[in-house]
Amino acid sequence: MSVELILNGRAAVLDARTDEMLLPALRRAGLLSVRETCAIGVCGACTVLLDGEPVSGCLTLAAQAAGREVTTVEGLDGDPVQRAFAEAHAFQCGWCTPGFVLAAKRLLELNPSPGDEEIAEALGGNLCRCGSYVKIAEAVRRCAS
Ligand code: FES
Ligand code: FES
Repeated sequence: MSVELILNGRAAVLDARTDEMLLPALRRAGLLSVRETCAIGVCGACTVLLDGEPVSGCLTLAAQAAGREVTTVEGLDGDPVQRAFAEAHAFQCGWCTPGFVLAAKRLLELNPSPGDEEIAEALGGNLCRCGSYVKIAEAVRRCAS
């Protein structure tokens, strides 16, 4: 099936099986920031924004994106949250970073001045096996107004 959507701000069409998840369809389209680790909705490595809300690409059917807006970090380009992660060195291997950036972006839209507990709660669905959590929180605080 063909899934018509807005992908990173542009009209796009994803080819996907009817039972296929968004994660493989996006990776096939070249969006390799969307990463598969657990494939069961636990790690957050496959996080994308669907109409602005973080969702797991491994649990979201590609068909659910039809007519909607999907954002990956490839679509951020110069976003202050992305910059803050780089400036705070908020990663080691970087595998988890795209998911954290998108979750942090949504948090800061909803709450421009989150406290430590709110940051921990909002990013609780994202795991970093390198343990970069302290720096990740610092990156989010850098963006807080
Ligand atoms: S790969 Fe989707 S949540 Fe882990
Ligand atoms: S920086 Fe390596 S998994 Fe998070």
